[in-house]
Amino acid sequence: MLPADALELRLYPDPVLRTRAAPVVTVDEALAARVRRMFDIMYEKRGIGLAAPQVGVSERVFVVNLSGDPDMPEDEKVFINPEVRDAAGECTEEEGCLSFPDIRLDVVRPETVTIEATDLSGDRFTIEADGWLARCVQHEFDHLDGILFVARVSMTRRLMIRRQLKELEGRAEERSS
Ligand code: NI
Repeated sequence: MLPADALELRLYPDPVLRTRAAPVVTVDEALAARVRRMFDIMYEKRGIGLAAPQVGVSERVFVVNLSGDPDMPEDEKVFINPEVRDAAGECTEEEGCLSFPDIRLDVVRPETVTIEATDLSGDRFTIEADGWLARCVQHEFDHLDGILFVARVSMTRRLMIRRQLKELEGRAEERSS
């Protein structure tokens, strides 16, 4: 595995984004360092959530700070090996994703979720989330299963962003050639 400092944001269509991530086996200092790097990248790119596959690490971890503010570390939440226990209701909100710069899409999701996960101390915790937290944890949880938010919208919506997706695919080809 790459050292934490070497982790960088991965953009669509990087195949790691479509890969189902593996469970974390040990919560150790190396994981804490990767998590720290994830928060740093998230703040730098002005996001509120980031999943490990988005930095090229196929493990079941995501981070959230709804404030998006590095000066509010008390709002940082780390979810290791998360499980969604319960989901209820339905609502539509506009979402973005750091792996899809400049793309915003209305996505329908359950309104509230109960999520269980391990924290960096290795302790299991459960939270009932609603509002933006519910939205954000579901989006990040999807990343761990290789499900991207563009797959959660109608074919019509996807056609509307086809040109933007093609552009991202073109940029990836330029990078690799
Ligand atoms: Ni995302």
